[in-house]
Amino acid sequence: MENFIFNAYTKIYFGKGMISNLPEAIHKHGQKVLLVYGGGSIKKSGIYDEVKMLLKDCEIIELSGVDPNPKIESVREGVRLCKENKIDVILAVGGGSVIDCSKVIGAGCFYEGDAWDLVTDPGKITEVLPIVTILTLAATGSEMNKNAVISNPERNEKLGTASMSMIPQASILDPEYLYTLPALQTAAGTADIMSHVFENYFQKEEDTFIQNQLAEGLLEACIKYCPIALKQPRNYEARANLMWASTLALNGLVGAGKSGSWTCHPIEHELSAFYDITHGVGLAILTPRWMRYILNENTVEKFVNYAKNVWHLPEIEDKFELANKAIDATEDFFKKCGIPMTLTEVGIDETHFEIMAEKAVRIGRLSNAYVALNQQDVMNILKMCL
Ligand code: NZQ
Ligand code: ZN
Repeated sequence: MENFIFNAYTKIYFGKGMISNLPEAIHKHGQKVLLVYGGGSIKKSGIYDEVKMLLKDCEIIELSGVDPNPKIESVREGVRLCKENKIDVILAVGGGSVIDCSKVIGAGCFYEGDAWDLVTDPGKITEVLPIVTILTLAATGSEMNKNAVISNPERNEKLGTASMSMIPQASILDPEYLYTLPALQTAAGTADIMSHVFENYFQKEEDTFIQNQLAEGLLEACIKYCPIALKQPRNYEARANLMWASTLALNGLVGAGKSGSWTCHPIEHELSAFYDITHGVGLAILTPRWMRYILNENTVEKFVNYAKNVWHLPEIEDKFELANKAIDATEDFFKKCGIPMTLTEVGIDETHFEIMAEKAVRIGRLSNAYVALNQQDVMNILKMCL
């Protein structure tokens, strides 16, 4: 196991009605709030009104219209609003896109240059305004982590940045806020949670027993509860387990002591950089193909564990057959959840494969992945997804 530092930095308020703690979470940072949200789901669901009511003694400036795959332009606008209004604290209400956008806005307030510099060079992030979040989509883990992913459509770039200073101070996780999610977002969010776990589970370290057990448990939770949430959108138990899985899958616990690069994420970020697709959909399409591509003598044991411990498939003599059954189960699961499972279905063809593969390998440092991949390998995987 590699050395690591784990700091459970974010105060989590989890459960039904926990928004009642919002005033406490905000007031300790000040009275001037930048409220950041997306295209309006929080108005339809009533969360917006609840926030306004609870924070009626605060001065609230709003930044709305943050897109899925948040754009650098929204960050720039948020920084302008914060500086102009001397904002004390940013309240992000939404999914990963709104939270990520808020994090970089918070960092941009302490930076004189263009906010895009903070995305290309995390070293430029110093201080960050306090971030409080109200999560409405179980997927990214952004509610308790240091990451933010921002798109620059002019450059066809979607890049991750990270800083310990960007970790939210507090996050309110009320599973009832997930009731209004469209089915595709529930499914894509689950695929994202599972991918965060896969990226850490399929790594070279053999001695991370605890992290692996946690990973298997989180995967089982997703497999159990996503179909229930799809059938019964207002099932509290299902929503609560998916919401907590989202947070635990990417708050540093499962990845602690693991050092290799991730694989499907850098490739997916190229897909959504060029085509603006839903992150979890891209991951669901890539994951089973990547698994098939990297299955070999060196990796088969790991896939056998995955087959036995996550899918509970009965042991058979042929390890490769068992591994392939687990990969089939993964693909079937995403399909049954209603996710389009080919790139063709989401409007992507081979046009940009070469440049996307080159960038994924370079930016994602795929030579250091669980199974090292070069540009040709990534192109081969992308072709398998058509
Ligand atoms: O904009 P609104 O109207 O709010 O609608 C959103 C949006 O259209 C909707 N939605 C969210 N909560 C809802 C709801 N609709 C109804 N009811 C609710 N309760 O869902 C749509 C998607 O929202 P978005 O925030 O984009 O989804 P997600 O949470 O999946 O975030 C995706 C972004 O996060 C990045 C992705 O790359 C992508 O840009 N990631 C961030 C990570 C991180 N910070 O650690 C890691 C991830 O791997 C990922 O890369
Ligand atoms: Zn992800």
